[in-house]
Amino acid sequence: FNVPTPVNEPVNSYAPGTKERTLLEAAITEARAQEVDVPMYIGGKEVRTGNKAKLTPPHDHQHVLGYYHEGTKSHVEDAIHAALTAKEKWENLPWEQRAAVFLKAAELISTKYRYKINAATMLGQSKNAYQAEIDSACELADFLRFNVAYMTEIYSQQPPANAKGVWNRVEQRPLEGFVFALTPFNFTAIAGNLPSCVAMMGNVVVWKPSNTQIYSANVIMEVFIEAGLPAGVINLVYVSGPDAGDVIFKHPDFAGIHFTGSTGVFQNIWKTIGENIDRYKTYPRIVGETGGKDFILAHPSADVEVLNTALLRGAFEFQGQKCSAASRAYIPKSLWNDLRPRMEKDIQSFKIGGTEDFSNFINAVIDEKAFDKITSYIDSAKNAADAEVVIGGEYDKSKGYFIHPTVILAKKADYETMSEELFGPVLTVYVYEDDKWAETLELVDKTSIYALTGSIISQCRYAIDEAAYALRNAAGNFYINDKCTGAVVGQQPFGGARGSGTNDKAGSMINLLRWVSPRTIKETF
Ligand code: ALA
Repeated sequence: FNVPTPVNEPVNSYAPGTKERTLLEAAITEARAQEVDVPMYIGGKEVRTGNKAKLTPPHDHQHVLGYYHEGTKSHVEDAIHAALTAKEKWENLPWEQRAAVFLKAAELISTKYRYKINAATMLGQSKNAYQAEIDSACELADFLRFNVAYMTEIYSQQPPANAKGVWNRVEQRPLEGFVFALTPFNFTAIAGNLPSCVAMMGNVVVWKPSNTQIYSANVIMEVFIEAGLPAGVINLVYVSGPDAGDVIFKHPDFAGIHFTGSTGVFQNIWKTIGENIDRYKTYPRIVGETGGKDFILAHPSADVEVLNTALLRGAFEFQGQKCSAASRAYIPKSLWNDLRPRMEKDIQSFKIGGTEDFSNFINAVIDEKAFDKITSYIDSAKNAADAEVVIGGEYDKSKGYFIHPTVILAKKADYETMSEELFGPVLTVYVYEDDKWAETLELVDKTSIYALTGSIISQCRYAIDEAAYALRNAAGNFYINDKCTGAVVGQQPFGGARGSGTNDKAGSMINLLRWVSPRTIKETF
């Protein structure tokens, strides 16, 4: 079988006067005018508990987009039961039939649902039009299409060798049990990818999204259902983390977790799984992408404008709410006086506000908790002896959770924001002496507790080579003369090690192989 060769979904610009812009504006107006009533989906049924929680735009927190129905432990039990009930039929469906469901979902996302899912991401997660397009339309369609292609390769692998009178073969079985997908707010595409790539390989899933992504998760589920996903294959529940964990990690049929979120939560989950290991029928697969404290390292040979663009785009696009966002920079003293005014001038030109106005570049951070955390670090830097807020530093949560792009100058390399993850529009810069290049390489590696993404900006081939080697374990995605964000599915498989996760590369065959448990069969004649 040949599945269609995947190509990356073209990105709409939504420039003024384009047809796409008119359609997206209409979808936003329609969404704002409604109050949605979002159910859980268990065993193909919409479940409404009556225990409703509000959905509001982070940039306009008094506006109500609708409500979602919160569940309890018993809904998690129901979801597991529904998944296990659906399992046999789904895993025995020829894989081409499973592939067809997800190819259809990709098609729906790139056509009929494109504006609806983008509007949901813009309103629910405060991304501007272009960012929503990259995330919820293009990246999600890309994940689905490329994963179907990788899946095809897995099922089409060369069989093993055979001795005389023997026929060996390897069957790619799904995992025995159900898989838990625990997904983040910051990427609609990741939220859609984690349950779908597991299900594609014949598994059944209980999916719990972040509470702050439920508005667009509901659209993803609508798409999966319209694409023909059978009842019970993916069950979407809205319950508290402790309630979900209490049921799922004690269940004998728990077969794996596909996670994106914070390092602390992932470590606790890993410990809980360890504590319960003797309950399970099989060793669960633990696949997670967690935090980042991603660096941009400039060599004295760097082109200052390339560096400026990499820093601004890497740190402030998506309000810095990307696990890949540039949040610390190492700049040689010889470049800093030239770089600083360029950054300041560009940052001052960024418009801040709600996503409905397409000219706003910076939108709100996700919620009050994130706002309070990020701004407390900004306040500490304002009062610190060994740091200085050199650009930005203003914030306001009266209408939405707005934080101006902020640059902190760390006077000591171990200042707290050089190592702690803030997950917001804050970049900390450390200026090093030009003759301390070798020491700076060592410093960057030593302080990379996380190891997700990193960039070297340099025009010197020897320096690039030195950095690539010295920092070989400091980033799972390493960029040369580019920002450290924006990995494209099918082009730069994404993920990191150390504190950043299990590095099973989202959107790759490596990842899909975690969701099968092969059986080798030897037959003699
Ligand atoms: N894939 C996203 C990026 O690389 C997270 O920025």
